[in-house]
Amino acid sequence: MPKTEKELMSFDEFDECRNPPPAETDFSQIVDRVVSRRSFLGASVAFGASAFVMGTTALRPAPASAAPSRLAFKQVATNTLDTVTVPEGYSWHIAAKWGDPMWSNSIPFDEETRGTGISQELSFGDNNDGMAMFADGDRNILAVNNEYTNRSIIHGNRESGLAENADDVRKSKAAHGVSIIEVEQKDGRWSIVVDSPYNRRITADTPMEITGPARGHDLLKTAADPSGTTVLGTYNNCGNGKTPWGTYLTCEENFNGYYASSDPDNKPSDALSRYGVGNEDWGYNWWKYDDRFDISKTPNEPNRHGYIVEIDPMNPTSTPKKRTALGRFKHENAAVALAADGRVVVYLGDDERGEFLYKFISEGKYAAGGNNSDLLEAGTLYVAKFSDDGKGEWVALTPASTGMASQAEICIHTRIAASAVGATTMDRPEWVACNPNRVEAYCSLTNNKNRGVKPNAGGDATPVNGPNPREKNLFGQVVRWLPAGGDHASDNFEWDLFVTAGNPVVHTGPEAGSSNVNADNMFNSPDGLGFDTTGLLWIQTDGNYKNKDGFAGQGNNQMLVGDPDTGEIKRFLVGPKECEITGITWSADRKTLFVGIQHPGEKGGSHYPAGGSSVPRSTVIAITRDDNELIG
Ligand code: FEO
Ligand code: CA
Ligand code: CA
Repeated sequence: MPKTEKELMSFDEFDECRNPPPAETDFSQIVDRVVSRRSFLGASVAFGASAFVMGTTALRPAPASAAPSRLAFKQVATNTLDTVTVPEGYSWHIAAKWGDPMWSNSIPFDEETRGTGISQELSFGDNNDGMAMFADGDRNILAVNNEYTNRSIIHGNRESGLAENADDVRKSKAAHGVSIIEVEQKDGRWSIVVDSPYNRRITADTPMEITGPARGHDLLKTAADPSGTTVLGTYNNCGNGKTPWGTYLTCEENFNGYYASSDPDNKPSDALSRYGVGNEDWGYNWWKYDDRFDISKTPNEPNRHGYIVEIDPMNPTSTPKKRTALGRFKHENAAVALAADGRVVVYLGDDERGEFLYKFISEGKYAAGGNNSDLLEAGTLYVAKFSDDGKGEWVALTPASTGMASQAEICIHTRIAASAVGATTMDRPEWVACNPNRVEAYCSLTNNKNRGVKPNAGGDATPVNGPNPREKNLFGQVVRWLPAGGDHASDNFEWDLFVTAGNPVVHTGPEAGSSNVNADNMFNSPDGLGFDTTGLLWIQTDGNYKNKDGFAGQGNNQMLVGDPDTGEIKRFLVGPKECEITGITWSADRKTLFVGIQHPGEKGGSHYPAGGSSVPRSTVIAITRDDNELIG
């Protein structure tokens, strides 16, 4: 495949191109199921201008029409500008960007070279994603994921647009992982506190401990780690979580794209194939300089990635811990809640077409002020089964329910375990967010062009179903569920769709979206989600920004706010060209909202933020109100 073509591919397109689903799937069976579901849905779900707001079952009463809107700002219109747009009365500035020095012995970002191995190790990482703010007294510590790199940008100084030598690979590895930075506000503007004792870079080479059921399992053993208990690095850190005991959860997503084989005849195992690990990487070239990434030499290395990693952001010398109890898949984020009895509940999405939605419940209970450091080490992992009647259940993944040999194996080959129990295939589960004001949770199902068309990578059929009601779903939806008995630990739930995104200007029928989508607030591909303390839901998009055809009028990627009670949605922010909006957190005083602007110019069409002919750079922006009031 030509390099330019691979650079322009999204991760899921890369996976699909290299790892087509098994040919032996019974397509006639799929068609039968699709047709039968369609007739069910035809009777119960309506779309478009005359549709229900909520989908199959209305969990909330319709609001009184006279109720005042809680979204007290003037909606931002879509645009295709190469900058950030926020509502009147709000301002934004950059708090941190790719390549900003974190220590005084680093080197300021060099537009020509785009950095070196050493400068990147001492600077803020690339393509920031999920993040969370922590407070130590009046000091603000921001933990930020650095998900991946756009090769042609970070290696734009190379003819090939790829890593060409060992230092390029060192730079690339150092641009990944997590940046922990102290930030401070001076004269209204936030910036990194250079040389803060809290500052830390965690990269693809940082030593970590493997904990939980899979620790020490044969599938995790390598020549460098014959015990299967320690591992180097975390990469493709997508969304995040934050625990009540003050730790940061970083979520390893598309880890498969970093492996290749120097032996072209190497045959990856079926289990590796299920995760999209093959003989060709996504263009990083790490395998050429580090045998860990050559699967013909280190076939177990991919089994050591794809986990939730717990980090203590207050202790820069602490060892990050990979929590295998929370399963191995393409982790999007980790939404943490407490069960009625104090056990810890973590909702987890697996972002790939036709993969699943999970929940972990800890064995131990959270104790405020107590030692909670091992709560994520042991517990039960569940996967969601949705019924078309608005109900659903969580199915425990155990040796008995899956037929697999051990809990360790379930925690390593979690996708295979979930397939074994017949979990509901979903339209790419992205972020989950829990409402702080009542026991309910929301999940973005970003899009899935394969819905009703072909099975997932494990051969599970993907017929249209209740929470995934549109064939060839290009716009995405947000599903939400109410746990039975008001307890996140419950085995059962009721669900509905908070919104089905669409384009009511171009389309009629299902592609127009649900009735809380209109010509003024329309969007596609919901991804990042976050609740503020007032119970409003912030929705970030990572979608199609071509602004024509079915997406005409939707402009650049954006951030919206939704009211869970009324279904009202308004656009709050539009990002620069070719970016996605991802990552959201607040200052302790709730007067600043931090938002991530990721991969501006991923196709070469942006010079955000500096303009001119500058290198586009991902940024964390700070948004404040001009009247200095609270912002969520
Ligand atoms: Fe990294 Fe599914 O987004
Ligand atoms: Ca995402
Ligand atoms: Ca996405």
